[in-house]
Amino acid sequence: MKILSVVGARPQFVKLAPIAHESARRGAEHLIVHTGQHYDPLLSDVFFSELEIPAPDVHLGVGSGSHGHQTGSMLASMDDVLTEHRPDWVLVYGDTNSTLAGAVAAAKLHVPIAHLEAGLRSFNRRMPEEINRILTDHAADLLLAPTEVAAGHLAREGLADRTVVVGDVMTDVLLATRAAVGDARPAALDEEGLADGEFYLATIHRAESTDDPGRLRAIVESLAGLDHPVLLLAHPRLVAKAAAAGIDLAGGSLRTRTPLGYRDLVAVADRARGVVTDSGGLQKEAFLLRTPCTTVRTETEWVETVDLGWNVLVEPGEQLLAAATRLRPADTDATPYGDGDAAARVLDALLAPR
Ligand code: UD1
Repeated sequence: MKILSVVGARPQFVKLAPIAHESARRGAEHLIVHTGQHYDPLLSDVFFSELEIPAPDVHLGVGSGSHGHQTGSMLASMDDVLTEHRPDWVLVYGDTNSTLAGAVAAAKLHVPIAHLEAGLRSFNRRMPEEINRILTDHAADLLLAPTEVAAGHLAREGLADRTVVVGDVMTDVLLATRAAVGDARPAALDEEGLADGEFYLATIHRAESTDDPGRLRAIVESLAGLDHPVLLLAHPRLVAKAAAAGIDLAGGSLRTRTPLGYRDLVAVADRARGVVTDSGGLQKEAFLLRTPCTTVRTETEWVETVDLGWNVLVEPGEQLLAAATRLRPADTDATPYGDGDAAARVLDALLAPR
């Protein structure tokens, strides 16, 4: 059995880790193709080393570009990779341009496609990720859904017979990382003079947040006005867009730094009084760590976090300030994202006779 994973962006490296480890445990041949969508060491290499992921077998080196150029360049290169390696499965992850390119290349060459994190929907078709995930789901042969809600979306689109609910591999990696980190305190907190439970953790990177200077300014001003220090981990897109619009990322409560590796991110999220973000992954990580989350978006794919009271969707301004400073929600034992054995179920599904 030869499985070929296509990854390219930061959250995909995190999801890749438990799949790579489980493939090795089961003796399945697992090849890794890195598209090069993310190339900064802080967005890429650090995840391979910290999460002990084998080095990619193939690196496409596409880099940044408009959606069409970036996706098209990956698609062209993937043709050669798939023709050379002829895997039994192409495994694509999530909803980035790397996901779509991997799926389309495989579909055209009649290589079976499995989509990890299938069935998520924001129902906002202006998001590039929403288009990527819908097209990928409909191209795929095996839909590995993280939740029952995701499986329900796929059923409504006529895809129930290709769907298996496996749980969420982010739960696997988060639980393992939290156990490995233990009580170790990330240096970033001491460097910024931040005490446990006395700061917020913030990330903002999505095009919908950063590309309209007025909206970006409103978000940054809200964060700067919070009642405790805000550790803002700045994605390169945020830094570039803020600089272009003349927005100060160092005012008021803000303590802005470069992104952290995964172990430090988990430790910091665990010690924060709250998270403010537009990231999909961090909403879930906050929930799993039971850190209250405030999401600066009009919708979320991870509706369970909202339904259970641990996540609130807001507009920048008064709404953001009120939500971030709200009382801690009631505790819950709910496990909508599984128990940490999703990668094993993914391998069960991939290795099952077809
Ligand atoms: C991508 C995904 C998004 C995911 C995010 C995780 C798509 C459409 N979006 O968004 O779903 O949540 O990754 O981080 O695939 N840049 C660098 N260094 C890098 C990579 C990017 O400086 O290593 C800068 C470039 O200016 C680039 C910009 O960031 O143009 C955006 O990068 P891109 O890969 O297009 O999308 P992300 O915003 O990272």
